[in-house]
Amino acid sequence: MASHFVLNTGAKIPSVGLGTWQPGLGTWQAASGVVGDAVLTAVKAGYRHIDCASMYQNEKEARDSLQKLFDDGVVKREDLFITSKLWCSDHAPEDVPQALEKTLGDLRLDYVDLYLIHWPFRIKKGTNFIPENFLNPDISATWGAMEKLYDSGKARAIGVSNFSSKKLEDLLSVARVPPAVNQVECHPVWRQEKLHAVCQSKGVHLTAYSPLGSPGSKFMKNNDILERPVVVSVAEKLGKTPAQVVLRWGIQSGHSVIPKSTNEERIKQNLDLFNWSIPDDLFDEFSKIEQVRLLRAEFCVGPESVYKTLEDFWDGEI
Ligand code: A2P
Repeated sequence: MASHFVLNTGAKIPSVGLGTWQPGLGTWQAASGVVGDAVLTAVKAGYRHIDCASMYQNEKEARDSLQKLFDDGVVKREDLFITSKLWCSDHAPEDVPQALEKTLGDLRLDYVDLYLIHWPFRIKKGTNFIPENFLNPDISATWGAMEKLYDSGKARAIGVSNFSSKKLEDLLSVARVPPAVNQVECHPVWRQEKLHAVCQSKGVHLTAYSPLGSPGSKFMKNNDILERPVVVSVAEKLGKTPAQVVLRWGIQSGHSVIPKSTNEERIKQNLDLFNWSIPDDLFDEFSKIEQVRLLRAEFCVGPESVYKTLEDFWDGEI
């Protein structure tokens, strides 16, 4: 298993990256201080992919750590793969380049390696994402603006996040530049088999967010993946931790994974996935696990929203 996957642009995306969404206690806002330290620790431990987003409100914090790593000669810019995401209030084509400029300014970078449409919904500029503020998305118009960023070289690859199979296929049918990545929730309890097959057949790489099932998150139920009997028993048989077998399951399935951690020992553990593998018989055990989408996105459906039900929003993949 290589330490990277190859995108349809020819670029290499590292198999393991550091997720940086660290919500503060009970809020969507990022807890300050923790992400900067995690970035420093992760890059020193060998991570080369950092998954950011303007919505996480911590790109400046990540920047300070990146700058320190560059200044101290730990890595060069070109050694890293930096992802960021376009927030839902910036979907208007004229707002897309400004949104990337803001992110590049905050990160103090000349380009990102990957820029994603964060969600397939649009909200009024400057408002919170509650259903009343939703506008009809025009993904093909937003994508046209994303393609220009790709042409400019400021986004070396472009892609999407939280797209169902249908929304991805609709986009592929109009795209001049096909999306390189769809970043979605994916782990043994939500394996995304249909979407994975669509991505594979169209040359779109799948990156798994919440690859550990976000244990401890207040935003999700059923997030006890690391305690599931199959996971615990495979971990015991292989002499690995539950988190390691879950992450290894992800990369062995062909996904890059972006686990979040702010703990040095766990950051290191989550990268230690390459000199061992899950044998086929144990790998098959994962297919017995009952499937549940954990991040259902109830917050974006309702009578006032353009998406009335979760079925609508996920096009039946729920
Ligand atoms: P911590 O930061 O204390 O390590 P996900 O990436 O699926 O959203 O999961 C993130 C959560 O998983 C964080 O709460 C993180 O806590 C925890 N976590 C990360 N790595 C491990 C690990 N190796 N073992 C157990 N929990 C982990």
